Amino acid sequence: MRPLGQELDSAKASENREAMEAACAELAARRSAVLEGGGSKARDKHTARGKLFVRDRIQQLIDPGSMFLEVAPFAADGVYDSPVPSAGMVCGVGDIARRPCMIVANDATVKGGTYFPLTVKKHLRAQEIAAENGLPCVYLVDSGGAFLPLQSEVFPDRDHFGRIFYNQAQLSAQGIPQIAAVMGSCTAGGAYVPSMCDESIIVRGTGTIYLAGPPLVKAAIGEDVDDQTLGGAETHGKHSGVVDHIAENDEECLQLVRSIVANLGVPHLQPIPRALPEAPKFSSEDLLGLIPADARVQSDVREVIARLVDASEFHEFKREYGTSLVTGFARIDGWSVGIVANNGVLFSESSLKGAHFVELCSQRGIPLVFLQNITGFMVGSKVEAGGIAKDGAKLVAAVSNANVPKFTVVIGGSFGAGNYGMCGRAFGPRMMWMWPNARISVMGGPQAAGVLRTVKDAQREAAGEPRLSEEEAREITDPVLQKYETEGSAWFASARLWDDGVIDPRETRAVLARAIEVSRYQPWPDRSHSVFRM
Ligand code: COA
Repeated sequence: MRPLGQELDSAKASENREAMEAACAELAARRSAVLEGGGSKARDKHTARGKLFVRDRIQQLIDPGSMFLEVAPFAADGVYDSPVPSAGMVCGVGDIARRPCMIVANDATVKGGTYFPLTVKKHLRAQEIAAENGLPCVYLVDSGGAFLPLQSEVFPDRDHFGRIFYNQAQLSAQGIPQIAAVMGSCTAGGAYVPSMCDESIIVRGTGTIYLAGPPLVKAAIGEDVDDQTLGGAETHGKHSGVVDHIAENDEECLQLVRSIVANLGVPHLQPIPRALPEAPKFSSEDLLGLIPADARVQSDVREVIARLVDASEFHEFKREYGTSLVTGFARIDGWSVGIVANNGVLFSESSLKGAHFVELCSQRGIPLVFLQNITGFMVGSKVEAGGIAKDGAKLVAAVSNANVPKFTVVIGGSFGAGNYGMCGRAFGPRMMWMWPNARISVMGGPQAAGVLRTVKDAQREAAGEPRLSEEEAREITDPVLQKYETEGSAWFASARLWDDGVIDPRETRAVLARAIEVSRYQPWPDRSHSVFRM
């Protein structure tokens, strides 16, 4: 290991810091907004029924003082006609009785906890994280089921509502415990959540489970029945056997969940090399001053690494070769990691180096951390003739088949095939986060606008027409620039679950450490390779 990093250049840092501080302030504001759920009126109605607010439920459920690694808190932000904070569902990894669990909790203050398309996507993503990391699932159910106006986007397709129950069966079959606490409504298809679980609880007076509620029963068969008689605690705890435990209130219910988790048996852990944790030598505050506000300006990513890893020590691999990619071994909170970080455009050499390094980590059983800040692969006739496509493919193949847990943090740009080689969402990172300054799109806005203008000019030339005037060109390029500006932001991405959340750069080390720790709960698959085109 060698020491890494140097003191910040304060003049440069203060320029960068201004933009990053503004981005972090926006993150903080958006966070406090989603913490409110569906707003004070809905919360008052909720608590008047004796129910705890969703985030208070989670706080009471997890071990005191333990970290709740929230997944996708900004899901659905700005996507629908009316606000749906956190897609009406709080998800994340929390320790219960010292065992990390995936908690999936409906927020009944947001449109009755109903499932919008992105609520479904978030629920499925939480189950995917649970599957990959071997985390017991705890469902705190309080939901009116499908958001009916959008039924065509939540009901019929493979990755729609039904997939939740399919996953429950699959997860349970894999030995990943499924636990439900019915703390409110649990209607129609939603009734399968507790029914498909290994063990379930209902809260007396507020919990209900039924395939059809009283109004539908009346309409369908003319029977008059009240909520509790149809699907309350007595019905399901004493008669139907749909649940296994009755709790008198939310507090007791959450204690019962803890008791269930305490009796799950022993998990199989995958060993990851770990040393005694040491803090980095440099302050995490520096991270705010390291990323240039202008995405076209390159800075040395080693300075970022120095602020994330233990003792700011790094065993750099191939330092002098393929220098636009930095690779090397380090520790995060004691855990061994292999770091792959961009330091410029990807060339053939940097891709080969990356592929080699990823293979090393797979061979040695060391988790991978990707720090993405990439405009893409180098373009042009020289590099094409040099085979950059096949060399880039080797990196993409190595990343795709790496059997160790992969974690991706987008610290700057994530553009084009650079996103692929650097373990973007499609390449199965166990978890992926964006910094608030980060941008993601197939290419930059100006490049996309330029391509579309060139294509139009070529069409006109072929038709024997004059090329576009500047004004005509602007009619094509301006909307493209505007669209890329909006769609490229971290907020647009996170709202659609292209990542697992936007994090403050200063939280990166803690978030990574937690995710690595949690990844041990599922033994890793055997290693296998695809064919490398040589
Ligand atoms: N689809 C769309 N919107 C729904 C909904 C659904 N399934 N269920 C509730 N909502 C909306 C309500 O219209 C209301 O919207 P508003 O705040 O804009 O007025 C909001 O969610 C809260 O509903 P409300 O009935 O006032 O709250 P509540 O806490 O008293 O009851 C439910 C919540 C979910 C128990 C109750 O609304 C209900 O039974 N809904 C129907 C459930 C159902 O039959 N689902 C079938 C799914 S396949």
